[in-house]
Amino acid sequence: MAKAKGTIFFCKECGYESSKWLGQCPGCKEWNTFVEAPAAPKSAAHTGISSRSTASGFAVPGRPKPQTLREIASDTASRKNTGFPELDRVLGGGIVAGSLVLVGGDPGIGKSTLLLQMCKNLTAVGTDVLYISGEESLHQIKLRADRMGEFSEKLMLLCETSLDVIGPVIEEMKPQVVIIDSIQTVYRESVDAAPGSVSQVRETTMALLQLAKGLGVSIFIVGHVTKEGTVAGPRMLEHMVDTVLYFEGDRHASYRMLRGVKNRFGSTNEIGVFEMGGDGLHEVPNPSQYLLNGRPQNASGSVVTCAMEGTRPLLLEVQALVCRTNFGQPRRTAAGTDYNRVNLLLAVLEKRLGMRLGECDAYVNIAGGMRINEPALDLGIVIAVVSSYRDLCVSDDTMIFGEVGLSGEVRAVSMADQRIAEARRLGFTTCILPKVSLKGLQKTGDMRLIGVDSVAEAMKAL
Ligand code: TYD
Ligand code: MG
Repeated sequence: MAKAKGTIFFCKECGYESSKWLGQCPGCKEWNTFVEAPAAPKSAAHTGISSRSTASGFAVPGRPKPQTLREIASDTASRKNTGFPELDRVLGGGIVAGSLVLVGGDPGIGKSTLLLQMCKNLTAVGTDVLYISGEESLHQIKLRADRMGEFSEKLMLLCETSLDVIGPVIEEMKPQVVIIDSIQTVYRESVDAAPGSVSQVRETTMALLQLAKGLGVSIFIVGHVTKEGTVAGPRMLEHMVDTVLYFEGDRHASYRMLRGVKNRFGSTNEIGVFEMGGDGLHEVPNPSQYLLNGRPQNASGSVVTCAMEGTRPLLLEVQALVCRTNFGQPRRTAAGTDYNRVNLLLAVLEKRLGMRLGECDAYVNIAGGMRINEPALDLGIVIAVVSSYRDLCVSDDTMIFGEVGLSGEVRAVSMADQRIAEARRLGFTTCILPKVSLKGLQKTGDMRLIGVDSVAEAMKAL
């Protein structure tokens, strides 16, 4: 622990604490991430919410007694459904009592909208919910709520930014779910730093954590992610909370993806897909269908492939456009996937298949605005490039996946079963996949499966 008085320095990436400024953080090895913050007196961090609070919820009288696993009651039934199956899935099956959930995302992506709609669903089934906003006035929240339809009387709203006021209110009301929108606006008076700074965010999150665990309230906190400029990136928050969800998507496209990146009560990497409409967010229960909408028929350079998001297969269209370059240096772009990976795949085609791509511009795009970096997309990208280069189309009912190695070999990918099942569900009849993945496949119905060892073989199969 640093000195009780004066200032200390924090790494804004990982929260590493030091008594002096450092150029490189010893914790996460990032450069130039140290910021100065007033040191919190040690007592403040351990006295609960404030002198005004009762603090009875988390004061431990006497010596704590360790327990065996058998002594601890398991309350599996205490998960609450949010009314959004997509959100429940990402949360690992619903809201766990006493959990602290961080919902992060760019400003304007729809975090407040999602949580307000969740409140609507929760209160409709009789859950007590308290929505605390430090960003919008009650009037603004009402305007937003009016677009979403009828709300129940169970939803209580409060505009407040001081945690020394919020804490006692929560302790008194004991709601089942609390929303804090956003963590960057709340502060504690005992901490001498601006709201949103590292020390404020740390202190307020710590206090909220104690409240959640002490009272068994589930608390959702909203955290803005901004590139540089935010002193307290939610990065540091991730260590403290139980669950981290990121709400992402292209602000100009209407679909939004909710991604679990940490979850103490379920699996991570699950995604939920939503679409922003005039009356709030709507779930997209069939994202593959949604992503393939508007796919061109019989066009060269278009290939359907399958990526896994957690346990969920997603069919995507990979588009490639290869044309003669008018400049000395050929242009390459990759939208929605890794630029370097695309360059590597182009090099494989050049070297192993003798295609003269050095004279061509190549543009690769994942349609629908998704961002996917899975190696299983490799074969789809390669075939799309070849298809555009030779101006040949791939049949509309064919789905292609597989990882491509540097010598042009096609390597196995995981969860081939699920990918094939998803393709079959959407009416695809042929699937080109790594030969090694053919082994151990469960029943695949009438799907025509073509196993390939190399890119050259995949081209022959087409
Ligand atoms: P918001 O939830 O305020 O974003 P955040 O809390 O993440 O900053 O979302 C705001 C955006 O959503 C805004 O650009 C308007 C749009 N929106 C709709 O398109 N339809 C709606 O019904 C609502 C409520 C918002
Ligand atoms: Mg908001």
